Amino acid sequence: MTIRSFLFVPGDSERKLAKGQGSGADALILDLEDAVAPARKLAARGLVAEALAARPPTGPELWVRVNPLDEGGLDDLAQVVRPGLDGIVLPKIDGVAEVVRLSHHLEVLERRDGLAPGSVRILPVATETAAAPFGLAAFTSLELPRLYGLTWGAEDLATALGASTNRDEAGGFAFTYRVVRSLALMAARAAGAEPVDTLYADFRDGEGLARDSAASAREGFTGRLAIHPDQVATINAAFSPSEAEVAQARRVVEAFAAAPDAGAVGLDGHMLDRPHLKQAERILDRHARRS
Ligand code: COA
Ligand code: MG
Repeated sequence: MTIRSFLFVPGDSERKLAKGQGSGADALILDLEDAVAPARKLAARGLVAEALAARPPTGPELWVRVNPLDEGGLDDLAQVVRPGLDGIVLPKIDGVAEVVRLSHHLEVLERRDGLAPGSVRILPVATETAAAPFGLAAFTSLELPRLYGLTWGAEDLATALGASTNRDEAGGFAFTYRVVRSLALMAARAAGAEPVDTLYADFRDGEGLARDSAASAREGFTGRLAIHPDQVATINAAFSPSEAEVAQARRVVEAFAAAPDAGAVGLDGHMLDRPHLKQAERILDRHARRS
């Protein structure tokens, strides 16, 4: 199922873990990395493992953002790969090799813990280091059955580049960050995976979030990261096909069904060919799986 909203929940906050469950998010990302202070990392690992064990039968998918593998991430995995876990968010990767490495670890841990082989999926944060953008092409040439999608981040990249901000004068992302955003989108699609847009930092600005998410959905992203429960409903709406889109998609599919041997058909004075049909089928598929 396509995940529209991934809500970050600091892994050391029992209160937020509880609150996240009722947030309406399609998935929670229980965070062991940057949202947790170094002194709280151990406690967070324990709390996240408990939250997975106590997972209710319904509710959001549960993902965990581990630390980079050689900075505590392996210890994170040893504790959180257990029944109840849907996926791992892997931050600050330089390239696909780290995803391959994680896949191998998961293969073993799933067997140890009685999870279905291949059930734990992976969402790498694919643009957080200076090297990362150059490795994106490799995602398109490898078979990575666990890969759910690719997401991107602008905060750590700015730090890695020695930038004082990732913003331009108008307040939007500066050019460098718009470049990696587009690269992540294209790499995800080329890999047959979901493009997941980054977070919208100003969590009190609901209107800005709605506008930004609508633009993101138009560009092809299928969901985005959230940092506050108030953002979830807006994000879910932006990444769900509207009634008008669903109705139009039905008409496109019907037009092709009525002309089974045609490569292109006309509808309302517009030419439609195979890419339009594929797009319409994708909208109907997303709609069907949400209703
Ligand atoms: N997940 C679950 N619950 C959350 C939440 C989150 N991400 N963010 C806020 N809440 C809860 C709060 O605990 C509070 O609940 P309460 O009234 O029962 O205590 C309620 O929602 C309202 O929160 P609010 O007062 O508006 O925000 P805050 O000042 O408590 O928290 C942040 C602001 C930014 C610290 C918080 O939203 C947060 O921790 N976000 C996630 C940060 C993160 O994980 N970053 C890593 C990715 S970059
Ligand atoms: Mg970070």
